Amino acid sequence: MLISASAVFAAITLVTGEIVHYAPAATNINNLTFVLNGSGAPGIFNSSFTPPALYGTYNWCNMPHVRQQEYRVPSKDLTLIYVEVIQRHHKRTPYGSNTFFKEDIPWSCDGSGPVYGGTSPQGEVSPVQWQAFTDTQNPWTTTIGPGFVGSTCQFPQITSDGLEDSVVHGSDLRSVYASRLGLGSTFDTSEAQIRVTNNDITSQVASGLLAGLFPHSPSQYSAAKIQSSTFDSLEPTYSCPVASALRSGYTTGSSGQQWQAHLTGAASLYAKLDAVSGISPNDNAGWHTSFDHYYDNLSAKQCHGKPLPCNVNDTSLCVTQDEANTVFRLGNWEYSYQFRDAPASAQYSALSYGVWVLELRSHLQAKVDGTSQLKYFHNIAHDGSMSPLLGFLQVDEMVWPGMGSEVVFELYKSKSEYFIRVLWGGQPMKTSTPLGVLDMIPISSFFSYIESAIGSPSDLFTACTGA
Ligand SMILES: *[C@@H]1O[C@H](CO)[C@@H](O)[C@H](O)[C@H]1NC(C)=O
Ligand SMILES: *[C@@H]1O[C@H](CO)[C@@H](O)[C@H](O)[C@H]1NC(C)=O
Ligand SMILES: *[C@@H]1O[C@H](CO)[C@@H](O)[C@H](O)[C@H]1NC(C)=O
Ligand SMILES: *[C@@H]1O[C@H](CO)[C@@H](O)[C@H](O)[C@H]1NC(C)=O
Ligand SMILES: *[C@@H]1O[C@H](CO)[C@@H](O)[C@H](O)[C@H]1NC(C)=O
Repeated sequence: MLISASAVFAAITLVTGEIVHYAPAATNINNLTFVLNGSGAPGIFNSSFTPPALYGTYNWCNMPHVRQQEYRVPSKDLTLIYVEVIQRHHKRTPYGSNTFFKEDIPWSCDGSGPVYGGTSPQGEVSPVQWQAFTDTQNPWTTTIGPGFVGSTCQFPQITSDGLEDSVVHGSDLRSVYASRLGLGSTFDTSEAQIRVTNNDITSQVASGLLAGLFPHSPSQYSAAKIQSSTFDSLEPTYSCPVASALRSGYTTGSSGQQWQAHLTGAASLYAKLDAVSGISPNDNAGWHTSFDHYYDNLSAKQCHGKPLPCNVNDTSLCVTQDEANTVFRLGNWEYSYQFRDAPASAQYSALSYGVWVLELRSHLQAKVDGTSQLKYFHNIAHDGSMSPLLGFLQVDEMVWPGMGSEVVFELYKSKSEYFIRVLWGGQPMKTSTPLGVLDMIPISSFFSYIESAIGSPSDLFTACTGA
């Protein structure tokens, strides 16, 4: 497209509810030749620890976030007045979506903390920690349900290591924002809010995060905001058939050749993984429509220092590190394709995450209007939340958002103007849009981008449902 960036920006500020797609940078992440025939993992996959000199690089187990060490202190002329954070939950067991095969490696969730219940205001209730178990009297345990014999986790559940990462994440954010925003050391919902989804693992992370963020909170319940799973904007779960149709168009439909090509190109890898796991090449549980399940399975094991899996009948037939690395490259390629490279991905993202973006805009607008006392808002979500947000903002290099990945919206005020800075992995986010690097963008430009791409709540509802 040979139109100048400013001309395009003029166009997007005029058309409402129709986002212009700007292709991401060409890197090894979205280069299918490199993904299939290259080598190495696209980051750290075997520990939550990132060596200090590498902090900021991709770590699937514990993505970089805002910390004192790397924080870029803005000009003294600007005052920080509001911060909204959205993060993916921290590391966990794999999902138990595969219900046909025995998990060969036991998982311990001992000490992973309460799923529900701190103590009540009156100190009457006791925190409850889940201990998964199996019983030989239940004959469905190994035939239908996952035979997670020897594990004390639910699948999924935040592990005790993931809970520890949540506490550190909270205290790192505190080290940067408490003094700048004037946040107290106890959780006070008149100045700070926390929001979770209907999936328990986000509440588990909240309990760790709050301990780090507001370390002197009395040991009583903390109220977390949550929307009904029938219309939750954070996960998101609201129904948007037009978005779903767009996405299946570029993965399975006539515009899905590239998607099919990556699956075909990985045929020999699939054959090996199936031989180890015993999963049928014709399964209908999603093991062969994307690398999601194998990626989740292998990465969760490696993030917790567990060995790569071997065939349960033949312990000499194992997944190799090179094969795991190829799965990790393929998974990142899939996220780049679905949320950035496919031309319809921008529209898909705007529709499927538009409600959360409109809620964010209203929080920012209320600060600009001087009608909100809130200083800090923290959302705990999923890769399925971070990805369309990154797709909507059109990040220049897309990845599969790893555990604890974070986007921070900082609202600043100068004498008479408002600016926004958006931090991804702790640093100003580079986008492919005419907004460029989201580093002190006039708030009106940011709002124009949202307006052009999504329009009003009712525009969005109509665009999603056709109603
Ligand atoms: C990968 O290499 C093989 C030969 O080693 C070749 O046949 C195939 O086309 C290559 N794949 C891509 C996507 O370049
Ligand atoms: C993609 O990767 C291959 C293999 O590393 C390389 O030869 C090729 O130049 C890359 N393509 C682009 C567009 O960077
Ligand atoms: C983690 O993987 C890196 C390669 O990416 C390797 O150098 C390192 O030794 C591994 N660490 C552990 C604890 O296995
Ligand atoms: C992970 O894969 C191994 C074999 O590859 C299998 O035994 C196990 O059930 C899988 N676990 C999950 C949770 O998918
Ligand atoms: C292990 O062997 C049993 C009995 O032959 C078979 O039913 C099962 O599918 C095999 N499992 C794997 C993962 O190969």
